[in-house]
Amino acid sequence: MTKYSLVKDLPGLIGETVGVRGWVATTRSSGKIGFVEIRDGTGRLQCVFVKSEVDEDTWQALGELTLETSLSVVGEIREDKRSPGGVELGVKSVEVLGESVDFPIAKKEHGTAFLHEQRHLWLRSKRQVAIMRVRHEIIQAIHDFFYQRDFIHFDTPLLTAAIGESAGTLFETEYFDLGKAYLAQTGQLYAEAGAAALGRVYTFGPTFRAEKSKTRRHLTEFWMIEPEMAWYDSEDNMRLQEDMVAYIVERSLERCRNELDTLERDCSKLESVKTPFHRLDYTDAIEKLKKLGVEAVWGQDLGAEDETLLANDLDRPLFVFNYPREAKAFYMKENPDDPRTVLCDDCLAPEGYGEIIGGSQREDDLDKLLTRIREENLPEEAYEWYLDLRKYGTFVHSGYGLGLERTVAWVCGIKHIREAIAFPRMMTRLYP
Ligand code: 4AD
Ligand code: MG
Repeated sequence: MTKYSLVKDLPGLIGETVGVRGWVATTRSSGKIGFVEIRDGTGRLQCVFVKSEVDEDTWQALGELTLETSLSVVGEIREDKRSPGGVELGVKSVEVLGESVDFPIAKKEHGTAFLHEQRHLWLRSKRQVAIMRVRHEIIQAIHDFFYQRDFIHFDTPLLTAAIGESAGTLFETEYFDLGKAYLAQTGQLYAEAGAAALGRVYTFGPTFRAEKSKTRRHLTEFWMIEPEMAWYDSEDNMRLQEDMVAYIVERSLERCRNELDTLERDCSKLESVKTPFHRLDYTDAIEKLKKLGVEAVWGQDLGAEDETLLANDLDRPLFVFNYPREAKAFYMKENPDDPRTVLCDDCLAPEGYGEIIGGSQREDDLDKLLTRIREENLPEEAYEWYLDLRKYGTFVHSGYGLGLERTVAWVCGIKHIREAIAFPRMMTRLYP
């Protein structure tokens, strides 16, 4: 029986004869020697076939190893400084496990539309594997960050009766005899109930927005991390955000160097992401935009281009805080120093990535919250339970939502967030 090893473990097995299973990534051969690079998800391995050292069948098999053939090879692990991982495998025998005829993604350049149509196969490529590994590291870093701070991971429903963010971007479905259900745009309102029960919680789940927008920053299904903290005010909230973002970047640099190199990420840009982040009052942001020649109007939310202008050239992210209330969601707390505004912040990433976090202190005054719900024409009955949180022991609390794909795209330095998730869902894409 052959004992199989993972490519990542091979540097520790120099001199041993091992089996490795994987897929063919590249092949080249001269008359007497052949090189086949295989990948198994943990790394890439150069397998060397020498005609005079293998039997006829093995040498024959070399010719059949087309791109993405799955195979099992047995051979000796040797040191090779030029190879990735520092080792290569001297082939003794090979077995083809699954042939691959005319793999659709050849070496030549393909258009993005084609690649997205082939997403299930495109995921195997070097860059896509690197992105998925960085995404994984970021997810783990987030869980670790909260675990170290005694936050409780709190799951919230994906089918809901109440609108979380805005009526304009809801996916709805019939729900038995109970009328309409909506796919959750946010877990926040439920996380607020969690914070009253457990103190500090965070959600980590998919959220849905029927965004009729085709920008490089929008998906219809994306993953959001939403912490919610009892007794945190808006200042505490921003401090937690910057600590978390700095930690995510630090972990990625520490554990995903190879992947970031594969992606040709300029890591010096990430190395400067340290706390404290920059801070700019919304009103000052409008003034700044006007000075830059933009027709910015006080009262409106900032657009993607405004965000880029404000944060593009900064060495670290920027908080724009205390937006006008009409530009933001109903649940944000009125600013006691200027009731035209609410206690909230958007965290804008540099290099043109824009908003990665939206956060706020929550309105804890029952009457004010009720007024806002009525102003927005939201169905009061659906929010009765939410109002209860203000009736029974209301509390100062804050929270925020970090968009996972936007964060992954920024850390990886990729242009479009659709590559930051395995199977992106967009207005124009539901396949594969
Ligand atoms: O600013 P948003 O809409 O805030 C909320 O949903 C709050 N309930 C969060 C909270 O306070 N608990 O969304 C938060 C983040 C954005 O900053 C962005 O990173 C991401 O979610 N996001 C999207 N990502 C991809 N595609 C979309 N369509 C997104 N919409 C928001
Ligand atoms: Mg937002």
